Amino acid sequence: ENKKRIFSGIQPSGYFTLGNYLGALKNWTILQEEYDCIFCVVDLHALTVRQEPKELRQRTFDSFVQLLACGIDPEKALVFVQSQVSTHSEMAWLLNCYTYMGELNRMTQFKDKSAKHPENINAGLYTYPSLMAADILLYQADLVPVGDDQKQHIELSRDIAIRFNNSYSPTFQVPEGYFPKVGARIMSLQEPNKKMSKSDENVNAYITLLDDPDTIMKKVKRAVTDSDNQVRYDIQNKAGVSNLMDIYSSLTGKNRVDIEREFEGKGYGDFKTAVGQSIIDSLKPIQDKFNELSENKDYVHQLMKQGAEQASKISHKTLRKMKKKIGI
Ligand code: ADP
Ligand code: NA
Repeated sequence: ENKKRIFSGIQPSGYFTLGNYLGALKNWTILQEEYDCIFCVVDLHALTVRQEPKELRQRTFDSFVQLLACGIDPEKALVFVQSQVSTHSEMAWLLNCYTYMGELNRMTQFKDKSAKHPENINAGLYTYPSLMAADILLYQADLVPVGDDQKQHIELSRDIAIRFNNSYSPTFQVPEGYFPKVGARIMSLQEPNKKMSKSDENVNAYITLLDDPDTIMKKVKRAVTDSDNQVRYDIQNKAGVSNLMDIYSSLTGKNRVDIEREFEGKGYGDFKTAVGQSIIDSLKPIQDKFNELSENKDYVHQLMKQGAEQASKISHKTLRKMKKKIGI
C-alpha cells in the first residue's frame, strides 16, 4: 500500500478540550479515511507534570474512550496507549544521545511549562521533545498533524531524523508537520492571548468534551470579551471575540463575514448564546457515545490491547534497525 502514514498523539493530562477537538481530533477523524493513521494517548508525556496515580489511570482510559467517541475508528486507524508499548521509552533514550542541549534550550514549551511548575522542573520536561521524536520516528510517519503549539517540536524531530540518517545511513522517514488552517489554535476563554489547554488551572478557561450543557453555556457567557459589543474579527484588539468567532466558525462552517453579518446590530449576549449552543449541539453525539462505551469496559480494554500489540510490532522493526546501526 502506498498511503502516507500519519502519527499524532494527545496527552491524558486532563479531559480533552474544545481546543484539542477543533485543533486535532476532529481532523483526525477525517484523516483516517485517507491516510494510514496512528493515534496515541501519550501518557508518558503527561508524567512531566506530577500526576495523581489513580486519576492518571482513569484519565488515560477515558482519553482512549474519548478518541473513539470523537469518531476515531479502530478498524480504520491504529489507536493505542503509549506506555503499553515499551519501544517509546527505549527509543527516547537513544534519541537523547542524538539531541543537543542547545536545541532543547530553545523550546518555548519547556520555558512556558517550567515557569508554570517552578517546583518541578524535571529532566523529563526538558527532554520531552526527544520522546516526541521517538513517538513519530518509530512509525516512520510521513506527516504529523498538530496544532501551532507543536511546530517547534516537529522541527526538532526532523532535525534529529536527518542527523541520524546522515551519520549512519537512511533509517528514519523525515516527518513533516501538518497544520490545520481552521481551528489551528483555540485560545483560553479567560486569557485569549494564551492557548486553551486542558492543564489550565482555571476551569473557566476551557470547555471539555464532557462538560454538560449548563456548564458549557456558563463558561461561554463568562468568556472574556471587550466593552465594544460589536461582533467583529480583530485578533489584535478583540482577541476574545475573535476566538469565539473561530470556535463558532469551526463548528458551523460559517465564515467570518457571515458571522459578522449574522450578529450585526446584536450584542455579545445573543452572540454568546449562539456560540454556546453550537458547542452543546456539536458535543452531544460525542458525549452519548462516550457514555455508551464507558459502560463497556471489557470491550475498550480489548481494543487497547490489540492496538498496543500492533504498535509494538511496527515500532520494534524500526528500533531493531536503529540499534543495529548504532552498534548495540
Ligand atoms: P493540551 O495543551 O490541551 O494538553 P496536548 O499537548 O495534549 O494538548 O495536544 C494534543 C493535540 O491538540 C495537539 O495536536 C495540539 O497541537 C492540539 N491542541 C492543543 N491545544 C490546542 C488549542 N488550544 N487549539 C488547537 N489545537 C490544540
Ligand atoms: Na499539554
